[in-house]
Amino acid sequence: MVTYDFDGKTVLVTGAARGQGRSHAVRFAEHGADVVVTDVCETKHGSRYELSDESDLADTVDAVEDAGGDALGLRMDVTDEAEVEGAVEHAIDEFGHIDVLANNAGIAPVGGLMDLDEETWNGTLDVVLKGVWLCSKHVGKHMIERGEGGRIVNTSSTAGLVASPGLGHYTAAKHGVIGLTKALATELAEYGITVNAVCPTAVDTPMTGGIVETIDEDLGELAEQSGTDNLFEDILQPEDVSNAFLWLSSEDAQFVTGIALPVDAGATAL
Ligand SMILES: NC(=O)c1ccc[n+]([C@@H]2O[C@H](COP(=O)([O-])OP(=O)(O)OC[C@H]3O[C@@H](n4cnc5c(N)ncnc54)[C@H](O)[C@@H]3O)[C@@H](O)[C@H]2O)c1
Repeated sequence: MVTYDFDGKTVLVTGAARGQGRSHAVRFAEHGADVVVTDVCETKHGSRYELSDESDLADTVDAVEDAGGDALGLRMDVTDEAEVEGAVEHAIDEFGHIDVLANNAGIAPVGGLMDLDEETWNGTLDVVLKGVWLCSKHVGKHMIERGEGGRIVNTSSTAGLVASPGLGHYTAAKHGVIGLTKALATELAEYGITVNAVCPTAVDTPMTGGIVETIDEDLGELAEQSGTDNLFEDILQPEDVSNAFLWLSSEDAQFVTGIALPVDAGATAL
């Protein structure tokens, strides 16, 4: 295992109550960081499977502390600018600064584009794309003002590189995350802030379970188009994605910015 030094650094993770977000929080703490763990803690924005609740977020706080980091757990909906601004201020009051922003929150309500309702389109685009912009805006302004650089890592997906059948709205939003990543990278480079995206294939988290549970019968043909999304036998675990977050947030990646890094077990090589 590679060792990183995040001593004295503060990392803010969105969607941190479970899944990949929890893993990112714990892995950063294992390498010395203090972590602000944020989550909406409520099922909303058209998600068709249950999102996290406050007890999940409390479990992440415990897991970060067990890993040796200080943790601050905050309810924050990434689509709500006032909540984002408030959480960023709260994090700075508590830890003094934010060095790394891990934009991870997301929803993936299944539905073909011909049948999709506006609520699902808007909800998905708001959480997956607008949320990344709002969090990057408020943490980015703090990083600029502080003048010590920073790291922003966004969660796209293989659905940001190729179409994901039955998830056209999510595909559009995750492609948007890559465009936004490049735009942020160009605006923030002069301040020593790098901005990159990670593109995982299917990961073993509650979201993947939620997608499988909610695939309607009438989506059958679309779902069958999925084909293989992994050249290996094992499904990715959240830690596999966290490793990319750690590297992109480290000193080793100081000249890496504006990229979309597949962590996809070869899925997009096909
Ligand atoms: N699971 C996969 O196969 C997969 C593959 C590629 C990319 N991704 C992306 O990885 C990220 C993490 O997903 P996961 O697999 O851990 O899913 P997950 O459902 O287990 O976790 C997502 C977390 O985001 C939170 N969240 C949802 N809406 C929010 C909002 N408006 N504000 C704040 N928090 C909110 C949820 O409560 C939940 O705790 C997402 O961006 C997802 O799109 C997932």
